[in-house]
Amino acid sequence: MNLQGKRLVIGMTGGIAAYKVCELVRRVQDEGATVRVVMSRAAQEFVTPTTMQALSGQPVATDQWGAEGARVANAMPHIDLTRDADALLIAPCTANFIAKLAHGLADDLLSTLALARRLAPPCPLLVAPAMNVEMWNNPATQRNLATIRGDGVELLGPASGNQACGETGAGRMLEPHELLEDLIAFFQPKLLAERRVLITAGPTFEPIDPVRGISNLSSGKMGFALARAAREAGARVTLVAGPSGLSTPRGVRRIDVVTAREMYDAVMGYANRADVFVGVAAVADWRVVNTSPRKLKKNADAGPPALQFEANPDILAAVAAMPGGPLTVGFAAESENVVANGQAKRAAKRVAMIVANQAQDALASDEAEVHLIDAGGVRALPRAPKLAQARQIVAAIAQLLA
Ligand code: CTP
Repeated sequence: MNLQGKRLVIGMTGGIAAYKVCELVRRVQDEGATVRVVMSRAAQEFVTPTTMQALSGQPVATDQWGAEGARVANAMPHIDLTRDADALLIAPCTANFIAKLAHGLADDLLSTLALARRLAPPCPLLVAPAMNVEMWNNPATQRNLATIRGDGVELLGPASGNQACGETGAGRMLEPHELLEDLIAFFQPKLLAERRVLITAGPTFEPIDPVRGISNLSSGKMGFALARAAREAGARVTLVAGPSGLSTPRGVRRIDVVTAREMYDAVMGYANRADVFVGVAAVADWRVVNTSPRKLKKNADAGPPALQFEANPDILAAVAAMPGGPLTVGFAAESENVVANGQAKRAAKRVAMIVANQAQDALASDEAEVHLIDAGGVRALPRAPKLAQARQIVAAIAQLLA
């Protein structure tokens, strides 16, 4: 669980995107967090406190006075609610509430507790804006956003697209799964802040004719998990992906390629600007030379087609050989002698670290057991989900950079 033990306060203001927060409140609990919901008056026009209480399993605070004031021993819910919180997230956050945050207004429970939250040790404030495109673009809103950014408020979104009002543009609140991914990322240590990380992932596909080709069973899960973990750690991530149905992690730039040579070109076009290169892709070692422009027909008399092959470039070795190139990390999928084969591959390709794993894990599994092999020795990471492994690999990369 990615938010294990985190205590969140989610503040809701008046926007139709409030319905998305119902789902978010469930999802953060699935990840191990506890949630207190605080609602402005306008938020209650969209979703009732009863709904939010049922979803969060906790009383909902709506007012500084009355029941909530009475529940808190010192009658100061505006202080009490955030004192043991790990973060305050305002979602949806209206243009009006952003204006209040920018100016330090405190005219209801939610704005007062945002103003009264501790700065040291901090209770971080995250804001998920939700508004009409014209309200978003209005210079007053943009001024207020610049002010709260300058105050250290973390903005999540907004997205662009069709809006509930029928107009199109920026101002849509992020979807619940996007807010969840950003929230999880927020709590990860920023071990690769501002580093540029280039990653290959997935299989490659080498055509034989217009409808056939040679590929492998790589799912791309480890490479995509690593892209997500690097972005969580604050890196600027470019992911060069072979054919894969996986969705792109938030905040990651993705370049889709098909063949090994396309992957090579994409990587070499960027590698000199990267601080770190991680080759996770299962790159085809060979490509077909005599590809056919037309679909090959079955001709029983002529027998099977005679395919001729030539070697693909070794992308990992090429990057490792670049003078002044990035710190380079490779993967080794082995069916036996995982550590010895991994060590041999590290020496042969002259890379800083090899992540060696069982070939069957490397293909489609959601979990992996890996060995990190670098100049300092070998470290075994016991079986765990690929995202957890990816975070440990990121930590090891940060150590090698340091
Ligand atoms: N790699 C690459 N370009 C290739 C082949 C491999 O960048 N043309 C990278 C992979 O992304 C991975 C590492 O090299 O990081 C794997 O090396 P490789 O020797 O291809 O491993 P295996 O396929 O496991 O090798 P073998 O078949 O010899 O076991």
